Amino acid sequence: MLSRLISSTRGIPERGDVPQHIAIVMDGNGRWARQRFLPRVAGHKRGLDTVRDVVKLCIDHGVAHLTLFAFSSENWRRPQEEVSFLMQLFMQALREEVKKLHKNNIRLRVIGDLSRFDAKLVETISQAEQLTAGNSALSLSIAANYGGRWDILNAMNQMLAADDSKRKGFSEEDLAPYLCLANAPEPDLFIRTGGEQRVSNFLLWQLAYTEFYFTDCLWPDFNSAEFDLAIASYRQRERRFGRTSEQLSSVRPQE
Ligand code: IPE
Ligand code: IPE
Ligand code: MG
Repeated sequence: MLSRLISSTRGIPERGDVPQHIAIVMDGNGRWARQRFLPRVAGHKRGLDTVRDVVKLCIDHGVAHLTLFAFSSENWRRPQEEVSFLMQLFMQALREEVKKLHKNNIRLRVIGDLSRFDAKLVETISQAEQLTAGNSALSLSIAANYGGRWDILNAMNQMLAADDSKRKGFSEEDLAPYLCLANAPEPDLFIRTGGEQRVSNFLLWQLAYTEFYFTDCLWPDFNSAEFDLAIASYRQRERRFGRTSEQLSSVRPQE
């Protein structure tokens, strides 16, 4: 149990355990639409249906934390119409889904640099976070205008602003509370749909010892059977965190 409460680079989850924290790069919406001769944005709309399904699947499987990459700090480079559509979809989804999330005891957080969003969106996010703050069935984090490098630099800047003496030097433990997802264990399982095998500036710090799972399945097609494949793949893996296999099968050290 201890392993679930502390950094996953220190605790060792048992082989066969369900991942406590899943982080997903939801990729392939545009291609899904193109295959159907639809505009790219139709893929984003369908992708939102998959989000609903995956949230439910996580709860059914006893996953405690789910972190979804919805919009990267690099996605502003897309055509203006697509960026605007994504912002509207995000706003609409927040408005329409928050009550349902709350009813299902789901805690919502949005991680990323919110300074670039308009004031109305920031206010809607903050209300949703406040409403769901006490919920415990699943902690759902949506990464929006998020970048892994931004996260690390932002944490450092915040830490230094809070305690100037850290300029002389600081440890991982000093920085940890300022990083996004500080309240969750590090992701056990990283899933990327859509066939690309890259991190795309997602949780660079937090993925240090995460298990990676890549699938060609496009995000709008990622259904319960695909989810089960990812979980089954994870459950076969032996997580060693630098130790040998023999060490794990004798005593299971926590440090
Ligand atoms: C992922 O799907 C969703 C976002 C990045 C917002 P894409 O839009 O990247 O889909 P592809 O990669 O073009 O198929
Ligand atoms: C990564 O997908 C970001 C999200 C899923 C939100 P992209 O499709 O933007 O990634 P790259 O740019 O192809 O690596
Ligand atoms: Mg993509």
